[in-house]
Amino acid sequence: MSAPTNNPRLLAWVDEASKMTQPDHIVWCDGSKAEYDALIKITVDGGMATPLAKRPNSFLFRSDPSDVARIENRTFIASKTKDDAGPTNNWVDPVALKKEMRKLFTGCMRGRTMYVIPFSMGPVGSPIAKIGIQITDSPYVVTNMHIMTRVGVRVLEVLGASGEFVPCLHSIGKPLLSCQDDAGQWPCAPLEKKYIAHFPEEKTIWSYGSGYGGNALLGKKCLALRIASVIAREEHWMAEHMLILKITSPEGKSKHIAAAFPSACGKTNLAMLVPTIPGWKVETIGDDIAWMKPGKDGRLFGINPEAGFFGVAPGTSIDSNPNAMRSIERNTIFTNVALTEDSDVWWEGIGYDPPGKLIDWTGKPWIQDKNNKSQSPAAHANSRFTAPAAQCPSIAPEWEDPAGVPIDAFLFGGRRPSTIPLVTQAFSWNHGVFMGSIAGSEITAAALDLKIGTVRRDPFAMLPFCGYHMGDYFAHWVKMGERTPPASQPKVFYVNWFRKTKEGKWLWPGYGENSRVLKWIFERCDGVGEAVETPIGFMPAIGAIKPPQGVSEEDMKQLLEVDVEGWKAELEDIRNNHYPKFG
Ligand code: OXD
Ligand code: MN
Repeated sequence: MSAPTNNPRLLAWVDEASKMTQPDHIVWCDGSKAEYDALIKITVDGGMATPLAKRPNSFLFRSDPSDVARIENRTFIASKTKDDAGPTNNWVDPVALKKEMRKLFTGCMRGRTMYVIPFSMGPVGSPIAKIGIQITDSPYVVTNMHIMTRVGVRVLEVLGASGEFVPCLHSIGKPLLSCQDDAGQWPCAPLEKKYIAHFPEEKTIWSYGSGYGGNALLGKKCLALRIASVIAREEHWMAEHMLILKITSPEGKSKHIAAAFPSACGKTNLAMLVPTIPGWKVETIGDDIAWMKPGKDGRLFGINPEAGFFGVAPGTSIDSNPNAMRSIERNTIFTNVALTEDSDVWWEGIGYDPPGKLIDWTGKPWIQDKNNKSQSPAAHANSRFTAPAAQCPSIAPEWEDPAGVPIDAFLFGGRRPSTIPLVTQAFSWNHGVFMGSIAGSEITAAALDLKIGTVRRDPFAMLPFCGYHMGDYFAHWVKMGERTPPASQPKVFYVNWFRKTKEGKWLWPGYGENSRVLKWIFERCDGVGEAVETPIGFMPAIGAIKPPQGVSEEDMKQLLEVDVEGWKAELEDIRNNHYPKFG
């Protein structure tokens, strides 16, 4: 196939990569439906994918049990110096790493096809978007990239002969000997040969040995966060691990809120929230990543660089997230969920019992045994759906606006059963930066390395995703504030949906009721929400947030109290254990 580009840098890179990896064929992806269908057919015929009878054009994949999640200890920031990667990233010397990885990449695509995927993170041609080119030998990766990014010829047109792109080299790391095939097994390399490597100065990504999620769909965490965070610092914008939602009042006024939470705090649910308060509407711009640039008027304008959702399946139900459930009715790839006898998907927390026997995520028969508390789950805890964002009923009409949407507020949060109130507004931008820097969740189940009750902090939810020194990243936030006129700065809030009483009862129902807090945030951005000044920030005045059913006035007081002793302990922890980590 002749290359559909005359970009010399791209041609030279593809040539170099193919000489190194030695594939049997090279295919330049055009992003078409025909291409998607043909690749899916390859995976179905090869026994890797199962068509789902209940969901049109939807398929189930089962990965290798060793290849089920991002692997942080095999993820590297190979900047020139260790100090540039900072103390919280895994640093390796780029020259040594390339030497090691070149050995692995040499001949690694033998017996396979190399796919060249031109993709845009963000609406094609948007001034905020960036182009990436992923080389991969995994048809599963290509189909997922079709959903998660904008793939195709239009991207090459925008790239032209001299445009910039981020080279993303990927292989599952399993060459095929002659006449061999994968025999229906998910191909990948053993853990010690897996490398998810970032070269921040060169702005390139090399990923070897894994076919799963963030390790392999290189537009997402690798490009849109780790490499983009480096570019954003250089170019004075922000690449953040944030959802973006649009909230509209009964009077028809809208605001946009970008929010960062550590994993497992319900980001996708918040992005697709169905408000319980009459007349208010929430719409989705994105559920995981936000790229924000200052506009001409000084305000920050944000886009969702992705085109799909790569959401965690367990816990997703019609009650917890009806919009996500509707987004995955068709044209969806499921990975590592369970399969029902009538060829539908099932997972823990889907909202109903399994309708009979299942095949679990490892491919074995599984029958629910409610008496067996230690029964292993039918769906892997990190099983996923990959679905086009355009299918989400709550998607905002402007979600693909190339200019982005003006950001009015930032939210940070985490799972904090104690100390942290339902909502606090920062006094200033820098106070907001402080709030983002201390975000984290309390450990509620025994983890090997942490005591129950201690806080595992994940500043800005970026700890695994920042491509440079985290201390410099805090400084970048401070500088962004200095560059933005105060009146144009988004207001910053810290929220906590997870507060409990001393007896362990949830104080706040969460989900759709969180709209009550969003309404107050909206009103604060509008200059009308009633607030009181406290030592930890502005908080809602009594009566400013109407409690939902089941939340008493007394509960509301607890949710909005300033826990002086708790905060003293919090500050000790920040001073002694948290900030010293960043130098
Ligand atoms: C994700 C994550 O998969 O944050 O989005 O881990
Ligand atoms: Mn994420």
